Amino acid sequence: MKRQMMTAVAVCALAFAAGCASTPSPAARTAGTEQTASTTPAPPATGVKADYPITADGATAFVADAETKWAEVSEYVARIQWARATNITFDTMWLESRANAEATELQVQLANQAAKFNEVQVDPVVRRKLNLLRLSLVLPAPNRPGAADELAQITTRLDSTYSTGKFDFKGHQITLDDASLILADSRDPEETKALYEGWRTISPVMRDDYARMVEIANEGSRELGFADTGALWRSGYDMPADDFAAETDRLWAQVKPFYENLHCYVRARLNAKYGDAVQPNHGPIRADLLGNMWSQQWGNIYDVVAPASGGASSYDLTELLKSTDYDATKMVKTGEGFYVSMGLDPLPQTFWERSQITRPRDREVVCHASAWNLDNADDIRIKMCTNVNGDDFYTVHHELGHNYYQRAYKNQPMLFRNGANDGFHEAIGDFVGLSALTPTYLNQIGLLKTTPGAEEDIPFLLKMALDKIAFLPFGLMVDRWRWDVFSGETAPAAYNTAWTADMLQYQGLVPPGPRPANAFDPGAKYHVPGNTPYTRYFLAAIYQFQFQRAACKQAGWTGPLHRCSVYGNKEVGARFNAMLQMGQSQPWQEAMKAFTGDDGNDASAIADYFAPLNVWLEEQNRGHQCGWSAA
Ligand code: ASP
Ligand code: SER
Ligand code: ZN
Repeated sequence: MKRQMMTAVAVCALAFAAGCASTPSPAARTAGTEQTASTTPAPPATGVKADYPITADGATAFVADAETKWAEVSEYVARIQWARATNITFDTMWLESRANAEATELQVQLANQAAKFNEVQVDPVVRRKLNLLRLSLVLPAPNRPGAADELAQITTRLDSTYSTGKFDFKGHQITLDDASLILADSRDPEETKALYEGWRTISPVMRDDYARMVEIANEGSRELGFADTGALWRSGYDMPADDFAAETDRLWAQVKPFYENLHCYVRARLNAKYGDAVQPNHGPIRADLLGNMWSQQWGNIYDVVAPASGGASSYDLTELLKSTDYDATKMVKTGEGFYVSMGLDPLPQTFWERSQITRPRDREVVCHASAWNLDNADDIRIKMCTNVNGDDFYTVHHELGHNYYQRAYKNQPMLFRNGANDGFHEAIGDFVGLSALTPTYLNQIGLLKTTPGAEEDIPFLLKMALDKIAFLPFGLMVDRWRWDVFSGETAPAAYNTAWTADMLQYQGLVPPGPRPANAFDPGAKYHVPGNTPYTRYFLAAIYQFQFQRAACKQAGWTGPLHRCSVYGNKEVGARFNAMLQMGQSQPWQEAMKAFTGDDGNDASAIADYFAPLNVWLEEQNRGHQCGWSAA
């Protein structure tokens, strides 16, 4: 993910959800400020002038001041957020909570001021900036005293509970990254069940906070003119919110047959391995058998589902990395090397000095991978707890995509320094990753001794589909759940049953056993307590293939799409960077057209890429009853 600065997210003290209830009072804040005033610069004063004339000139002046103010405040907030995310203490949380509440108040004020120009004729650039100001908040606080503070305190407790969550496994307290590593390799259904259920013991405590957070953010969203917070989130795509929701339905309908074919094949192989008592060969798949804590990417169980005949994969990326001299830093250097091969500049020295690449052992940090730009210019960094394995090799390329985007658009006006839409931001590094995972490229950088031929196409495509096709329904269901929560369709008492129902409807998955009455499983997925919208990942899963198809065409590639790598192609790099440099200055459809020539969202590229595998899956599935509704 890209660290989202335009958000009300704040974090409170350490792991202790209960201790977190005592977020500093305003009085304590004042005292704290006095104690540190001699060494700490005062926070930037909030706000711009209150009384711009409601004219075109007034709008221009307001937007200019808003951009200056936001540049200043966002850097201040980002540096505090970084300090907290890489060293969670009472004090860094105190600072972050305060800074986030201030930033939210400023953003709400700017959004309301922007709305005053709704009826004024202004030039298109100013109009776009006014719209962006209105849409910039993820969780708006209502405009009344104390609301931003209350929201910050709640989001504080949610994020801290997740980031420092641990549970007992075989007599030891383990973290999410420990659990994920074991789950990736475990083929013992008792063990995978214990990990699945164990991690979800960290989240029941979040449920009441989440419900209150929804109330406050909805109140804030309504004040900004949106029906609810979900409607606000759906409004950020240069089209009416309802049309956007319909677009996601249309895209899902296009790709769903591929998912059903993969689901059917994987279910049969799991049945063959574990037997009817663990995984029947009909109905939904047991979620803990898929090698990932949220069953969102299934590549870790490739060994279980590898073709029984007709070709095997000759390598495993994790083993290649481990048996060569790769460490976390070398993985990041390798990722940088890909971007540089496309003609982009190396990362700045400060990236290497200031990034967090591995988990520090002496303090609590937020381990969920993210990419940051601290000063809206060159101070770009990643924050990861990198392990040497194929998943993190890929994630490194993903995160660097955010950083290269951030640097490419740094010369845009402040309000345009963002992705064409949030799905673009997630898709940049994923697009690069599509080349970086090809055997051709792994051979070029010396990880693979020889490049396999066409006989490994199906194994390769199956590996890719286990991650990319399996992800699609998950990419959709997280926000389907949240959209229903924000609209009131799903009441707090139904939070968990609705989540489980969405898992079944979209993914065709069931938990390994009945969930406890107090379960709050959505809270065990980072982006829910972290309040990061998720539809962006569904879009990115489509866009990256549109980018890849266009790039390979530009490169003159005539072979199968899945074997194409744009490594070393400076012409493609220049064209790609030109799209990145546009930032958010134009509707995203313009950026898409500029690089791909496509008119909009188009799932035909992902269909092209996986076409040979889909034919193969249909052969494997012949005679099987696919789908999961008829249990
Ligand atoms: N940060 C990435 C995602 O959330 C990849 C990950 O660590 O899961 O976008
Ligand atoms: N990085 C995103 C996640 O963790 C999408 O893969 O869910
Ligand atoms: Zn990302």
